[in-house]
Amino acid sequence: MGGGWEADIDAEFETPKDGWEYRQVPPYKGRFWAFSRANMTRFAREGRLVYASSGMPEYKRYLDEQLGVPLQNDWDDLPPVSGRERLGYPTQKPIALLERIVAASSNPGDVVLDPFCGCGTAVHAAQKLGRHWVGIDITYLSIGLIQRRLMNAFPDINFNIIGEPSGLDDARHLAAVEPHQFQYWITQKIGGQPYRGGRKGADRGIDGYIYYTWNAVGAGRAGTAAAIISVKTGRNVGVAMVRDLCGVLEREKADIGIFVSVAAPSRDMAREAAAAGIWTDPITNESYPRIQILTLDDVFAGRIPKLPLLDRQAGYRRAPREAVSRQQPSLF
Ligand SMILES: C[S@@+](CC[C@H](N)C(=O)[O-])C[C@H]1O[C@@H](n2cnc3c(N)ncnc32)[C@H](O)[C@@H]1O
Repeated sequence: MGGGWEADIDAEFETPKDGWEYRQVPPYKGRFWAFSRANMTRFAREGRLVYASSGMPEYKRYLDEQLGVPLQNDWDDLPPVSGRERLGYPTQKPIALLERIVAASSNPGDVVLDPFCGCGTAVHAAQKLGRHWVGIDITYLSIGLIQRRLMNAFPDINFNIIGEPSGLDDARHLAAVEPHQFQYWITQKIGGQPYRGGRKGADRGIDGYIYYTWNAVGAGRAGTAAAIISVKTGRNVGVAMVRDLCGVLEREKADIGIFVSVAAPSRDMAREAAAAGIWTDPITNESYPRIQILTLDDVFAGRIPKLPLLDRQAGYRRAPREAVSRQQPSLF
């Protein structure tokens, strides 16, 4: 082996000595070894050198030992929400984006607050990364969606919802001051999905759908169908409203309608509902009233519509289950 190895890289740059050899190989013409002889010897002993066919040594770098390139301001490496991740909320952000933000700006056990949490991407990321979280949203559409999303992704999750009606008075108050929010809330409370299609005010007598599966168990034939929900928040309800719902069933070719009313129905209304007849499950021959009236009292008494088998997931996109569910104690 020719040449000396006493200079380290700094000294070598100060007084470059062309032509030193390492295992009979000189550096490329006009270049110098990047490492001192001591380091080169250590790397060789550690197996960190790899040799080209010319005998030229190169230092082995392992990806998991590299710091990587710091992120710049423009994050264009995250694809938009698509496929199974998409939940149908118009402003949904990719979970990978929120995971990156949460991971970069907090530690496990910290509290993440999203005061406009939409479909809950930030709280989903916070839960996944072992943070506490508080999510706030003004609409029950969001609250219901986030509730389902988190329960699908983290089946063991435990959280509280604060601010939804917990009793009759609360519910009546919501119906009086925010009828639309009341519709969203009660529809989800009875297992349905709020209807948001079409122009505002042009719901054509439909406030939501409640999906059910008939004859799902055992009979070799099954179908998912939607009962139509109509919500009445006012004090003045009458028989004409029940007839209207019958008309909607005809128009939509639906078998069952659920008339949800804050005010108690009159006898005439109950009679009109009974006159709408029954729908019979074609396989089981089980009968179901075609128009079912449900009052707020019924809902708080735990009564639900009579349907073959509620399918609470039909009509909704299901958030994929997360592989890791790190449980954080609830803050409240
Ligand atoms: C742009 S979205 C948030 C989207 C969210 N980052 C996501 O990825 O799902 C804004 C949300 O703020 C909610 N919002 C609007 N005004 C609010 C208010 N005063 N208080 C709480 N939430 C509000 C809306 O209901 C909506 O869900």
